[in-house]
Amino acid sequence: MSQTVTFEKRGSIGIIHVDNPPVNALSRAVRQGLLDAIRGADADSDVKAIVLACRGRTFIAGADISEFGQGPLEPDLGAVIASYEASEKPVVAAIHGTALGGGLEVALGCHYRIAVATAKLGLPEVKLGLLPGAGGTQRLPRIIGFEKALSLITTGEPIAAGEAKSLGLVDEVVDGELEAAAIGFAERIAATRPLPRARDFTTHVEAAKKNPELFEKAKKDVTARARGAGAPLRCLEAVRVAIERPFDEGLSRERELFAEAVASTESAALRHVFFAERAAAKIPDVPADTPTLPIRSAAVIGAGTMGGGIAMVLANAGIAVTLIDREQSFVDKGVEIIKKNYGATVKKGKLSQSEMEVRLARITPSSNWDALPTADLVIEAVFEEMGLKKELFTRLDGVCKKDAILATNTSSLDVDVIARATSRPEQVIGLHFFSPANVMRLLEIVRGKVTSKEVVASAMKLAKQINKVGVLVGVCEGFVGNRMLHKYAHEAQHLLLEGALPQQVDRVITAFGFAMGPMATSDLAGIDVGWRIRKAKAKPERYGWGVADRLAEMGHFGQKTGSGFYKYEDGSRVPIPNPEVEKLIVEIAQKNGVERRSISDHEILDRCLFAMINEGAKILEEKIALRSSDIDTVWINGYGFPAHRGGPMFYADTVGLAKVLGTVQEFGRKHGKAWSPAPLLVRLAGEGKTFGALAEG
Ligand code: 3HC
Repeated sequence: MSQTVTFEKRGSIGIIHVDNPPVNALSRAVRQGLLDAIRGADADSDVKAIVLACRGRTFIAGADISEFGQGPLEPDLGAVIASYEASEKPVVAAIHGTALGGGLEVALGCHYRIAVATAKLGLPEVKLGLLPGAGGTQRLPRIIGFEKALSLITTGEPIAAGEAKSLGLVDEVVDGELEAAAIGFAERIAATRPLPRARDFTTHVEAAKKNPELFEKAKKDVTARARGAGAPLRCLEAVRVAIERPFDEGLSRERELFAEAVASTESAALRHVFFAERAAAKIPDVPADTPTLPIRSAAVIGAGTMGGGIAMVLANAGIAVTLIDREQSFVDKGVEIIKKNYGATVKKGKLSQSEMEVRLARITPSSNWDALPTADLVIEAVFEEMGLKKELFTRLDGVCKKDAILATNTSSLDVDVIARATSRPEQVIGLHFFSPANVMRLLEIVRGKVTSKEVVASAMKLAKQINKVGVLVGVCEGFVGNRMLHKYAHEAQHLLLEGALPQQVDRVITAFGFAMGPMATSDLAGIDVGWRIRKAKAKPERYGWGVADRLAEMGHFGQKTGSGFYKYEDGSRVPIPNPEVEKLIVEIAQKNGVERRSISDHEILDRCLFAMINEGAKILEEKIALRSSDIDTVWINGYGFPAHRGGPMFYADTVGLAKVLGTVQEFGRKHGKAWSPAPLLVRLAGEGKTFGALAEG
């Protein structure tokens, strides 16, 4: 038997242990071990009941994702699970940590499931562009009913053990030691017959047959949420078969759909996203054992929207934080907004009132700097103005303790210049949060030229602690995200002058999978933001931004003023196309001598995406990003790039870099030197390589 699965006996109970760190994924060896173990237990006449448990931090967390794409490797997981379900002896799954995907499917094949209260159970396959492929779509609805099963399978969100118990997914929630409880449970039910096998359950199937509206409603909801992704629809199809066809036919259809899904570009993209996020945490010259500085207390300077959001994020993670602004009234306003935000979460039922109080108590408002000398971390979130930031950092240098981390939340300014305003530039780093900071998952961690490894390691650790995806980037204007955003948004503006309308550009981008197009996003963020930044520059670039700048000059800032690229009625967020804006666009185009033409959706998509990808290649070559997958992680977590496309660089790889280059060169011939291809793109396209392969090589 394989070392990853072992079998032992305690009296009449056989215990099968899986031990495949870190997450007990169902590698080929584990599947073979599970099969051998159940065969052995079945054949042993002393064994009256069987417990399946896992060593380490979790129950089985799913199939081994790194094996996908290698073709089927025997034994098939479905066959392994079938042998557990078919066992004549009761099998009890003892769950701790996370029973996910194939892990939960194994548990569903067992006759009973018990779990510790902290356990989570779910079928997250949809998040990898897949569907549960080892019976999950057939067994789960038969156990918990179709409505809840559809929700779990199509969202991929896990549930806690308590909820699983109330749904009948878990038979018992265990208080004390899991294995002892599992053995006790197995002894109690050892003689129970017939054994509860999910494949034989009919109650929920009959109920679903009588309620076709349930499925139709789910279909509507899922299709709307899918935004072009195929996996949620495949999940639906598999569950539909569970209602309409016998169990074994359902299993075969599920297997067919799973094979299609594994082979799809969408799943390859989402698996890339999964590993990309984890790769981002690894910094080649900052080993995992680099000492970190403890962060027990923090101070945030600037109680505006960003500062307040950052304070919430820290407080949510248990860090005591002082929120500082120069006037009491500013601090009071900041705290009010924080209370409102927490209150809204409580109203939605996502946070208890008492937990809200605990978090609020961690935030100390202040209009002085008394807390700074003891703070482990200081994050500056003041106005984006270099003079102001330099002055602030010089003052911080004077009062903060020697090993404090001094962080700036700048979104575009030179972190090295800010660092040089102190006598300890090695302690200075950029922590670029995205608005709203308490919602967006991305944290760009900006490493200055001399930022110490300890400070980098501490910032990466902090990102994890505050539940953000930390991506290390280098210093340049706009870092990774905003630098590429600038190219993308600028191209969208050009398209308006050349013949497109805001609603056409946004339609194309949302059809690609973004939640919002660039015009609607601009209206949401405020057209005035970019306008002010452009005005403040020594050499303002005016032409491409003509429409945005004119709207801002006229006071049409977007949603907050009720008009921008679109109109908004009475505080509504629903954009309504605005004929006045169309007139304005035509007028500005004429003034600039641009002849408007009909622009295809295809051109809009290529122009917007390839502009950002070409810039991404430059960023990669300049080593501002460590790897192309880091750029993808930034765009998916900070800018709403559709995860099922894998991020801009992965998307470029799927298009083919030669094709991307050809199109970039064609745009260059028509639109000038803004389209000069990145040398890296030219090289990789010439060598027939991808951005992804570059990361590996
Ligand atoms: N396969 C292969 N490797 C996996 C894995 C999996 N299913 N799950 C996690 N890992 C790896 C990670 O890549 C990481 O590797 P690294 O240390 O080299 O970077 C390591 O395990 C630890 O993972 P995390 O950093 O994510 O650890 P956390 O403790 O933060 O999270 C977790 C643990 C909640 C289990 C999280 O890893 C997770 O969500 N994993 C994926 C679960 C999943 O999607 N399961 C379904 C798989 S598809 C399936 O089962 C198909 C079936 O229906 C046939």
